[in-house]
Amino acid sequence: MILDGKAVSEKRLELLKERIEESGLYPRLATVIVGEDPASQMYVRMKHRACERVGIGSVGIELPADASTERVLEAVNRLNNDPDINGILVQLPLPSGVDTTRVIEAVAPEKDVDGFHPCSLGRLLAGNPVFAPCTPQGIMTILEEYKIPIAGERVVVVGRSIDVGRPMAILLLNADATVTICHSKTKNLADEMKNADILVSAVGRAKFVGPDMVKKGATVIDVGINYDEQGKLCGDVDFEAVREQAGAITPVPGGVGPMTIATLMENTFRAAKLMTCCNDTARL
Ligand code: GUN
Repeated sequence: MILDGKAVSEKRLELLKERIEESGLYPRLATVIVGEDPASQMYVRMKHRACERVGIGSVGIELPADASTERVLEAVNRLNNDPDINGILVQLPLPSGVDTTRVIEAVAPEKDVDGFHPCSLGRLLAGNPVFAPCTPQGIMTILEEYKIPIAGERVVVVGRSIDVGRPMAILLLNADATVTICHSKTKNLADEMKNADILVSAVGRAKFVGPDMVKKGATVIDVGINYDEQGKLCGDVDFEAVREQAGAITPVPGGVGPMTIATLMENTFRAAKLMTCCNDTARL
């Protein structure tokens, strides 16, 4: 079974559009991009387009590649204090001259739609998330939509980044999976991976996951965005080689990627509701 993230994202965006209309709210997202990395520019454009589609207003702040940390912090603070802005997204990676940790920690937690602030990550760890990072939350939505059981299942997450691997593991743990996190220092990686009922790869290496690493019938989630030797977009998983072995698998493109943006839209609506409901998280 192919897990069609594109189709799920379309469905969720349509549903969200209706919910936003019904709410009478006009949520607003601000993006901050530093420098002119073409991939980052493309992602930000896609986020603005999604906003327009669902009825979320968006503003884009563009800073030069040589902007200082102070200048980025100043932009974030201005957005923090702007009552018309509900969500703030600082596109990563930031240029090496900017202190990423300081910038992430400067975002007001109630506007942290990316879910990278320690406050958001801490809430996730405690089992009561307000904003979970968009990529792993989007993966949870795919699993839910396709009714893939999680409770009691053995899950292996390969990768331990703050934006994907760690929050993914916690979201799955919160859903009662038995979770193993693997990384570049893991011994007998293939053996660990082969144990997984659900395998999530967030490694960033083209066609890294082969059939020898996948249990027959496993669900395989591919978070990778890589390019093969021919310059063609591909995931971490050797899709053609693994698809027969897997019970269900996300393609690249058209798998996890579209869900990241749909989840960002959901988080932004959530931020807008949070702001108008006097920070009453119980009402979310
Ligand atoms: N760069 C790659 N993915 C992401 C993401 O989900 N959020 C942000 N802010 N930057 C990214």
